[in-house]
Amino acid sequence: MSRKKIVAGNWKMNTDLSQSIDLINQLKIKTKQFSHIEKIIFPPFPFLKTASDSLANETNFFVGAQNCSQHIKGAFTGEVSAEMLNAVACKFVLVGHSERRNFFNETDEQLILKIQQAQKNKLTVIFCFGEKLEERKNNKHFETVKQQIEMVLKNFSATELATIYLAYEPVWAIGTGETATPQQAQEMHAYIRKIIAQLFSNAVAEKINILYGGSCNAQNAAELFSCADVDGGLIGGASLKTDDFCKIISSF
Ligand code: PGA
Repeated sequence: MSRKKIVAGNWKMNTDLSQSIDLINQLKIKTKQFSHIEKIIFPPFPFLKTASDSLANETNFFVGAQNCSQHIKGAFTGEVSAEMLNAVACKFVLVGHSERRNFFNETDEQLILKIQQAQKNKLTVIFCFGEKLEERKNNKHFETVKQQIEMVLKNFSATELATIYLAYEPVWAIGTGETATPQQAQEMHAYIRKIIAQLFSNAVAEKINILYGGSCNAQNAAELFSCADVDGGLIGGASLKTDDFCKIISSF
């Protein structure tokens, strides 16, 4: 079964308005030949509308948000709802990124509600998870990932899973320059597919897109993307540099 090839850029709390416009304009030109790769960028909230307007006529090039509220609407100062994201033509949303889990104490219960809100508003979710360094050192990485996936995804049906991508992001690799080896990535991605098969079915597991994230860059992307169960990357730092991001896109 052939799955999509996907490269997603998580800009985090970086860029200003003119830098984000510049980055998007350059990407539009330099990624023209890669229309077969699904490209997604995740700019900060204030730049989403500008980004989606600019990409409106592009092929296979989408805008996503880095987070959404678990609530529908109301007195939640500072929050942004999934409905608002849909209104500015966002097609994707990240849920469960380790920075949200660790710095903002997001719990599995909140992640479930966020995914429900995203789905009600036609957003494809990239559900992120991954073990911390301590857990890997203590050989608890499989157990940790299994629990992170099961606690959240057991609340969804196979049909609902069709609009969820997964992103395995070992916390020890995020922003550290230390990447999982292709062997480590493949081993975990194959394991993730096994968990999905157990929770749903083999067919669902074969179909679901699983991205790798954590210091994926222009140098190591080709090796990581050549792994059988790695369907692409969720890129942080390297997504802020046009040439690096384009090189990653060209790595399949
Ligand atoms: P990184 O970030 O590529 O800078 O390690 C990845 C992520 O946090 O999604």
